[in-house]
Amino acid sequence: MIQTEHQRRAYLKALGIDVWVPNADAAADADADVAVVAAPGGSVADEGDLDWSQLRAAVSACTRCALHKSRTQTVFGVGNQQADWLIIGEAPGAEEDRRGEPFVGRAGQLLDEMLRAAGQAREQVYIANVLKCRPPNNRDPEAGEASACRSYLERQIALLKPKIILAVGRIAAQTLLQTDTPVGKLRGKLHHLGDIPLVVTFHLAYLLRSPRQKSKSWQDLCLAMDVVAGRAA
Ligand code: URA
Repeated sequence: MIQTEHQRRAYLKALGIDVWVPNADAAADADADVAVVAAPGGSVADEGDLDWSQLRAAVSACTRCALHKSRTQTVFGVGNQQADWLIIGEAPGAEEDRRGEPFVGRAGQLLDEMLRAAGQAREQVYIANVLKCRPPNNRDPEAGEASACRSYLERQIALLKPKIILAVGRIAAQTLLQTDTPVGKLRGKLHHLGDIPLVVTFHLAYLLRSPRQKSKSWQDLCLAMDVVAGRAA
């Protein structure tokens, strides 16, 4: 991900992180586009170093893509930071943008019901989206927006170390798995994101429009439950 050195320093400063810059570079690069910041010992200051609260602060200060201009607030994610289950959707909608929480409203109610059926209360799992900001008019996320946001989600996954990821909907599944295979072909089998098992299910708006498909989403949840229980590999 690329952002200006100036932006990066501003948000690292807001996180209370010292930014170390070699003297010779300090004056010259104030407006240069750089991908990383050199840190003491030659390591790289990136999301890979951040804890939950630093990551949350970084997300709320993010200006990596144009969506920051139209958001009401960022939607970081919610839930149990020791959760076995990580639910990943596409992006905040209008209600999520207003409330700062993913999967609220009708889709959220359906998700809560599905999780309850799988023996998981909303508070037990962790819920996040591929994008932390709402795309205007609920349009699909653009590839550049998803890649700008990706390292935030990757850090959430690394901090959480879930036993299962449930990718909800086409955009979440295709973005996470970096494929353009249709969701109908992605569901019903076990995928992996690194060493973390991942199950794909339908978008909740689709399930609300096509309630008959709910039985298939139940199969997806059963697969996820089997994985967590060690009955599927
Ligand atoms: N609400 C979200 O937060 N994400 C989705 O993908 C759908 C609804």
